Amino acid sequence: MSTEIILKGQVLSFSRSPFDEGTPQDATQVSEAVAIQDGLVVGTGSLSDMQAQLPAAQLVDHGDKLIMAGFVDAHVHYPQTAIIASWGKRLIDWLNAYTFPEEMRFGERAYADEVANRYLDLTAANGTTTVCSFCTIHPESVDAIFSAAQTRGQRIVAGKTCMDRNAPDGLRDTPQTAYDDSDALIARWHGVDRLDYAITPRFSPTSTPEQLEAMGALWAKHPDCLMQTHLSEQVDEIAWVKSLFPQARDYLDTYEEFGLLGARGLYGHAIHLEERERHRLREFGAGLVHCPTSNTFIGSGLFDMNGLMAEGQRIGLATDTGGGSSFSMLRTMAAAYEIGQLRGTPLHATQLLWLATQGSAAALRLEDKVGNLAAGMEADLVVLDLASTPAIAQRTAQAQDLWEAVFATIMMGDDRAVAEVRIAGQVA
Ligand code: GUN
Ligand code: ZN
Repeated sequence: MSTEIILKGQVLSFSRSPFDEGTPQDATQVSEAVAIQDGLVVGTGSLSDMQAQLPAAQLVDHGDKLIMAGFVDAHVHYPQTAIIASWGKRLIDWLNAYTFPEEMRFGERAYADEVANRYLDLTAANGTTTVCSFCTIHPESVDAIFSAAQTRGQRIVAGKTCMDRNAPDGLRDTPQTAYDDSDALIARWHGVDRLDYAITPRFSPTSTPEQLEAMGALWAKHPDCLMQTHLSEQVDEIAWVKSLFPQARDYLDTYEEFGLLGARGLYGHAIHLEERERHRLREFGAGLVHCPTSNTFIGSGLFDMNGLMAEGQRIGLATDTGGGSSFSMLRTMAAAYEIGQLRGTPLHATQLLWLATQGSAAALRLEDKVGNLAAGMEADLVVLDLASTPAIAQRTAQAQDLWEAVFATIMMGDDRAVAEVRIAGQVA
């Protein structure tokens, strides 16, 4: 028997990118209801039209709450859940002082399982239904997050983080084991249920040229996998990359040279880019991932959203937990807005919501599956209360239109704004 549900509220869909020509609001449609059958969206429209399509559906009335696609977090490190908000260091010292010691613990499967489930609980409570996660060098850490997501019926992307230098004992693999372990994990998980594998060299400083070459060969063997890494996050890091790869034209070249630049490549941060790098990223249609709370927390710099969008880059949005200081994509959108302000280019509420859903989904090449409420899309969604706290409610009471109300929740909202989350139509 099929499961049929109709949700009533203010149902938000995107008909195009709000960064394209035209007013941002005109990129959206707000309907009265969304119809769901067996985990997929049947359509959006008036309640009577939806009921005509699914006469036997259970009706859930969410009043005037906002119903939209669940958030897609395009760059996270689930193993850093327990060291989020660690004080006082910049990137390289932060990795050595906080991150690597914690990541060392994920060789133990029971610990990896515990944190993977804790992480997916925390993100679901914040309205996030899809994540793209780095794991640790341990295959157990990959099995843990994929198993947890599989049990929840959740669409995620993840991969074993590969590092063979500049990391402590116990946290290094080799070019060969990185290749073999990743290859075996791809065979076990890639394309199983809603799970996809991302080949994951952490970043150039922690991989030898031999390991980067092995990762390039693995990607060539599995071109339908994503490939995720970090690029040009902090100025000191870029200087380090230059000293480690003296022949390279720039940071991106350390990937490009080894076959690690492509349309299914995801490059986290991408703040301090050279002209040549921007040109090549654009040419390949690669995905850039903006991680605003991380960039302010670790003190990395201000992402050039408007400039990069204007030149046609593919851009997603992410928490970068635990370099990022929040599990919440609402808080992440607020930080993206604040960085836009510091650059003199404020983002509209529709643009922020699009980045957190369709933008991230497109970076992950999943835009035909998640990140929007439209016929045929997977029914992962979040229901947002636009008056979730007294402070927000008193601002919303004075809002002239939906976007003013939504913007107050983006700037001031947290998990209290998340009234309901559904994964493949089921309450999470
Ligand atoms: N660069 C390499 N590894 C990391 C990481 O774990 N977090 C962040 N923010 N940057 C990185
Ligand atoms: Zn990261």
